[in-house]
Amino acid sequence: MSIHANTSRKLIDQFGRQVDYIRLSITDRCDFRCVYCMSEDMTFLSRNEVLSLEECARIVRIFVQLGVNKVRITGGEPLVRKNALWLFEEVGKLSGLDELVLTTNGSQLAKHADALKKSGVKRINISVDSLQADRFKQITRTGNLEQVLAGVQAALAAGFEGIKLNTVLMRGTNDDEAEDLVNFAITNRIDISFIEEMPLGEVNHSRDNTFISNIDTLKKLQSKYSLIPSTHNSGGPARYWQVANSATKIGFISPHSHNFCESCNRVRISCKGELFLCLGQEDKVELMPLLRAHPNDDTPIIAAILNSMQIKPKGHDFDLKRAAPAVVRFMSHTGG
Ligand code: 5AD
Ligand code: SF4
Repeated sequence: MSIHANTSRKLIDQFGRQVDYIRLSITDRCDFRCVYCMSEDMTFLSRNEVLSLEECARIVRIFVQLGVNKVRITGGEPLVRKNALWLFEEVGKLSGLDELVLTTNGSQLAKHADALKKSGVKRINISVDSLQADRFKQITRTGNLEQVLAGVQAALAAGFEGIKLNTVLMRGTNDDEAEDLVNFAITNRIDISFIEEMPLGEVNHSRDNTFISNIDTLKKLQSKYSLIPSTHNSGGPARYWQVANSATKIGFISPHSHNFCESCNRVRISCKGELFLCLGQEDKVELMPLLRAHPNDDTPIIAAILNSMQIKPKGHDFDLKRAAPAVVRFMSHTGG
């Protein structure tokens, strides 16, 4: 299909879903080594294997021209990338973009929260799996809880429109903390999402033993709080509940318990410039060679992105019982 065949120049796939949201990973590196995400001794990509920040800015600009109005910057840990702030400032200037948002582990937030707010970042997701320092260290291997909590406070002070904690619960590790984490969210008037562990990457622990269904977490929380089903929809796979008499919503991101593929509105771009059409499938288009071959002409890149809509799969294919992960791809490459 040539680009001329698609006159609307909107990103609409063969199932009629419009892509208006991209998640861009700007680095595979991270200062943490969370057990469900990384192995202890990770080898990271070298500099010329990852998109430059200029290439990142160019990709986002092109997607915004194609009707994308929400961009999430992820990693790895995006804020460990040198000059990451420059990218936020560039993307923050794009007209046509309604929402610039960030997913972070919070370790660098105390330093950068104000500048991020000024650049136009509206909402931040901060990963916090435990409020107990020793446990936090056990899960992240290298993380420091105090530093992350200082990051949360800095984000609160900076006045973002929304702050949400992301928590992965694991049986026998932190599954007794759901209530403490919700109380922390309520006290700080922020939201929290519980994410079911996904079979991504070659991680050295068996998910069969640690996996906890959000259905169980919801049941547990419903016995402690009055939860009102919320109509709030972030355009993603989360279902939200409002905690009565509080400012807090609880989200449940359940790739296993809930099928959200039919309303999928997003694609992911890895730090290597791979355009992934679905989190759970291999289908991808390599953008980096095109960007580098055509530094001054966006036409081939626009054509490749428009054409990619033809291979966006109908849905994911996660299965915990499989011996090997459905996709051997680290979340730190593709962005959560
Ligand atoms: N399963 C579920 N969540 C994961 N994250 C990273 N790897 C996995 C995985 N295998 C989470 C991080 C972060 C969010 C962006 O993704 O903890 O909160
Ligand atoms: Fe880093 Fe996030 Fe992966 Fe943890 S889950 S190692 S914070 S990228």
